[in-house]
Amino acid sequence: MPEQSLRDIKACVFDAYGTLFDLRSAVEAQRPRLGEHADAVAATWRTKQLEYTWLRSLMGRHADFWTVTENSLDFALESNGIDLAEATQSGLREALMQAYLQLSAYAEVPATLATLRQGGFHLAILSNGSPAMLDPVVQNADLSDQFEVVLSVESVKTFKPEPCVYQLAVDTLNLRREQILFLSSNAWDVAGAASFGFRVVWINRFAQPRERLPGQPDAQLTDLIGLPTLLMEASRP
Ligand code: LAC
Repeated sequence: MPEQSLRDIKACVFDAYGTLFDLRSAVEAQRPRLGEHADAVAATWRTKQLEYTWLRSLMGRHADFWTVTENSLDFALESNGIDLAEATQSGLREALMQAYLQLSAYAEVPATLATLRQGGFHLAILSNGSPAMLDPVVQNADLSDQFEVVLSVESVKTFKPEPCVYQLAVDTLNLRREQILFLSSNAWDVAGAASFGFRVVWINRFAQPRERLPGQPDAQLTDLIGLPTLLMEASRP
């Protein structure tokens, strides 16, 4: 059954981390050095990173996503009993941070983006990442030519899910909210974008339960593979 609410989509706007780029690849290369702590460090790093974005937004104390990522890594290392001075000295901390600039794109991303472009959709990224973080990761994954624009919260100095962040895509693409399809694997970002008025497909890569928040997705997929078909079926007369 084609999703009627997805009929008039003109642009696909993607979240970056966890949606296009695989965050697990940040810790993977350092797994031998992190040993038994690798999975716990990865999980705490991401959880704290997001918490710090929400807390800083509420506190009115913005810092860019690089700083937030560094601060949350320090918390993750320390809370797992890893000596910070040693992690700095050995280069482990720097290696983990640098890995953020070279995250792998999920396998289906390049072909899916190419199909969507051929289908006439405008493509953009809208991310918490700073331009200095997003540019290298997009380039490294060889995706620079696929996106019309890469939008960063740094233009408004706050983080998702503040509505002014989603407004950046409306203003830049010059489209109505309901003409924009937002794609994210992060359920809280899905809620924020849907509550703002975007159409949303939740890329539920990790089989998570839905958030009990305002703003529900129009559809759900487990990865990006089915997205072009979903959109093309929806727009069929
Ligand atoms: C981003 C985070 C939320 O890319 O994944 O904005």
